[in-house]
Amino acid sequence: MLPKLELIAAACENMGIGINGDLPWRLKTEMAFFTRMTTDTKDKNKKNVVLMGRRTWDCIPEKYRPLQNRINMVLTSQSLDYGDKAITCKSIPHAIEVITDMQNQVERVWVIGGSSVYKSTMESPYFGRLYLTRIKKKFECDTFFPLIPSDFVLIKDPTVPQDIQEEKGIKFVYEVYEKR
Ligand SMILES: NC(=O)c1ccc[n+]([C@@H]2O[C@H](COP(=O)([O-])OP(=O)(O)OC[C@H]3O[C@@H](n4cnc5c(N)ncnc54)[C@H](OP(=O)(O)O)[C@@H]3O)[C@@H](O)[C@H]2O)c1
Repeated sequence: MLPKLELIAAACENMGIGINGDLPWRLKTEMAFFTRMTTDTKDKNKKNVVLMGRRTWDCIPEKYRPLQNRINMVLTSQSLDYGDKAITCKSIPHAIEVITDMQNQVERVWVIGGSSVYKSTMESPYFGRLYLTRIKKKFECDTFFPLIPSDFVLIKDPTVPQDIQEEKGIKFVYEVYEKR
């Protein structure tokens, strides 16, 4: 069976997620959480997919691309070729098809942004969970997390710290949502 799509995002109080093709903040702990969640697998013979929009791919500094130990997939309407760094897909159904073809090698499928990719996957039948870091501060942003559907409910995931995190005086919490 195809693994469900799991979304992971960090948003500030005004629901911003990005500015000028970058993250509005630098939070090492939050970045480490993203890396752990998207990389770790129970089955060491499998990898996780990170599925992203083309602009999010562009935003990753070249030295960190592809995101290591994960299968990188990029959504784009253009004919782009990232060689063996990333698989390009024309649409979400196309991405699902590609993942289905390699599902024996895949454990989890993480949707890592940006806005429109989050929106369409939250509305899709493949949606599984949303891992959302709530950053308790306002930042100037030009890219925002879409409205969370009203039938999403908070759940507990034992692999996610429950307590309030703090770095550089900025507080944040990890939330996990499922569809009711
Ligand atoms: N805080 C966070 O958790 C987080 C996470 C991710 C990104 N970000 C930030 O968000 C910003 C980038 O996000 P964004 O929303 O501007 O862009 P994005 O969603 O990453 O990329 C948009 C592009 O992806 C392609 N695309 C999207 N949906 C598609 C679909 N269904 N089928 C085919 N192609 C599709 C298109 O590429 P083409 O134009 O090539 O056709 C589109 O122009 C940056 O500032 C980044 O730092 C923040």
